[in-house]
Amino acid sequence: MTDPRDAYTEAYLAARDNPEQFWGEAARALHWDVPWERVLDDTKAPLFRWFTGGQLNTCHNAIDRHVANGRGAQAAVIYDSPVTNTIRTISYAELLDEVARFAGVLQSLGVQRGDRVVIYMPMTPETLIGMYACARIGAVHSVVFGGFAPHELAVRIDDAEPKVILTASCGIEVQRMVPYKPLLDDALRLATHQPAHVVVLQRDVHRCELTPGRDHDWAQVMRNAQPVPCVPVLATDPLYVLYTSGTTGQPKGVVRDHGGHAVALHWSMQHVYGMQPGEVFWAASDFGWAVGHSYIVYAPLLYGCTTVVHEGKPVGTPDAGEFWRVIEQHDVRVLFTAPTAFRAIKREDPQGTFFTRYDLSRFRALFLAGERLDPDTYHWARALLQKPVVDHWWQTETGWPVAANCLGLTAFPVKPGSPTKPVPGYTVQILDDDGHEVPPNKEGAVVIKLPLPPGTLPTLWRNDARFVETYLSRYPGYYLTGDGGYIDEDGYLFIMGRVDDIIIVAGHNLSTGSMEQALSGHPDVAECAVIGVKDALKTQLPVGLVVLKAGVQRDAASLQAELVQRVREQVGPVANFRQVAIVARLPKTRSGKVLRKTMRAIADGDAWSVPATIDDPTTLSEITTALQQLGLARAPIIQIGGE
Ligand code: COA
Ligand code: AMP
Repeated sequence: MTDPRDAYTEAYLAARDNPEQFWGEAARALHWDVPWERVLDDTKAPLFRWFTGGQLNTCHNAIDRHVANGRGAQAAVIYDSPVTNTIRTISYAELLDEVARFAGVLQSLGVQRGDRVVIYMPMTPETLIGMYACARIGAVHSVVFGGFAPHELAVRIDDAEPKVILTASCGIEVQRMVPYKPLLDDALRLATHQPAHVVVLQRDVHRCELTPGRDHDWAQVMRNAQPVPCVPVLATDPLYVLYTSGTTGQPKGVVRDHGGHAVALHWSMQHVYGMQPGEVFWAASDFGWAVGHSYIVYAPLLYGCTTVVHEGKPVGTPDAGEFWRVIEQHDVRVLFTAPTAFRAIKREDPQGTFFTRYDLSRFRALFLAGERLDPDTYHWARALLQKPVVDHWWQTETGWPVAANCLGLTAFPVKPGSPTKPVPGYTVQILDDDGHEVPPNKEGAVVIKLPLPPGTLPTLWRNDARFVETYLSRYPGYYLTGDGGYIDEDGYLFIMGRVDDIIIVAGHNLSTGSMEQALSGHPDVAECAVIGVKDALKTQLPVGLVVLKAGVQRDAASLQAELVQRVREQVGPVANFRQVAIVARLPKTRSGKVLRKTMRAIADGDAWSVPATIDDPTTLSEITTALQQLGLARAPIIQIGGE
């Protein structure tokens, strides 16, 4: 931030020093039914609200507005599904028709402004249509990722209390078809709350049974549906709730509002991603993640771009050239995905042979987020693409990037391993345990000074207290990100990883607590711990350590298989839980705290020392042996530094 003339610095300082003017100007790009009274409302600080008093509709701004302004014939959505061999282009005008009619369906099922609709669906355009239909009538959607098991779905249903649930007969993974409807039925057997209606998208590859009276066939209800207009809502009304892992087994319902969200996402498309209206943007993620909400569904359409809905994977559908094919075929200008996807491609096609078969001359940039971008993957992608590769850092909670190399403002030289600098609107600092800012290059807790910019979570669903306790109480005046890191002498931010019990698996944020809950529910388990260990492809993988109840004599292999299956059934396949060791004891402090950090260091082969507070040091050698039997803890053990 030494050159006051560059566009980044100008925007950064303007947003920091005069946020109301900065975001007020950004908001004028959208259509407001009623103008806001205050840009930033701090009357309930530390809970802040943006654009209070204002009214708008997100669906109107993303779809109707563009049709009215002449974009009706432009592609809004390109659905590309290698797993069903389908490509379907939906224009803005067609999307408006489908969304308005599906909104009519929801209204006819009794859904009104403020009601919740849970969506448990695969990567089909209907998922996006369902989300916009909710936005159109002021209903609050809550999308649950398809890789979560019925138990996790049930927890979210009970918290969101939806009037209606949208689902599909199945999703399609690389090697298998996943029947979603039985998973939803199982979840509803576990849940206390029951929806009045379920709308089911019947897919050609697999049709499912419908429960009479409760379930409706999507295609059938659409046949008679009447289109309904947009309902203006308050800027501060919730657009959606998206659950993210908590450090306990109970997920946190991240709330996103209408006004701040639309303003921030619209602004980010140009200034962070360097897009122009009319161009094609592709976020290769899933609707169930924040990336999918923000950059598949909302941001591209708010900005008048075309979005790609891809039902496939970077490898295996059918090969490691899939990303290049989609980019060439649909003229994608910017791709956003997780580093894991590139590591998967690199593993299958290290020489980039597939890449040479496609023409990517019009492709402009690759953005990666969701986990740390390791320098090896950065260099590989950069050398292959010969285009900017941008590491950017954000969280479900923020909904849009906190740090990035903002290609639409000023492209700075890249420092591999760093997501570059804070995005305008975010004041990022590094604090020590006592809340003091640390000098450059010293690691500490990464925090964001309040108020957070528009588009970030204003609170947790019906739980201000948990919001304050989790994020705002550790350092008053700051939002705690849960990440550790440092800022170097040039103002570049480096994110080094989570400092809590959340692990990042293949770009997905998962709670070890929910896996521990599943393990400890097994009748033979007395206690357990789950730690995240390093993995070359997926960044981290969970490993379980279980202690059996006194007197239990079990064949280790069959018990391990049961435990793995249990986590798969209760948390879901997305947990990637495959390794579990049976141990006599867990290493603990004298006050009974399980020494997870030390176990993690042992498993990863990092330097560690016997913590001064340990109850019984011999437990560490037992754990080392158990981890070695799983093929971990292989590096020489140098004992320094402690928990
Ligand atoms: N519905 C049902 N099951 C799902 C699912 C879904 N939507 N998504 C994933 N799963 C299942 C997978 O089939 C797999 O099951 P398995 O144990 O039977 O093989 C399991 O969950 C683990 O999935 P994942 O970790 O994604 O591994 P994968 O081998 O299927 O794919 C990658 C690996 C790297 C290709 C994939 O993770 C990827 O593309 N990641 C990067 C993009 C991304 O989505 N990032 C998220 C935020 S940006
Ligand atoms: P999620 O809420 O699932 O998006 O996960 C957010 C977490 O992913 C962050 O708190 C980080 O730990 C991690 N993360 C996301 N992007 C990056 C990045 N570019 N570099 C390092 N870590 C990242």
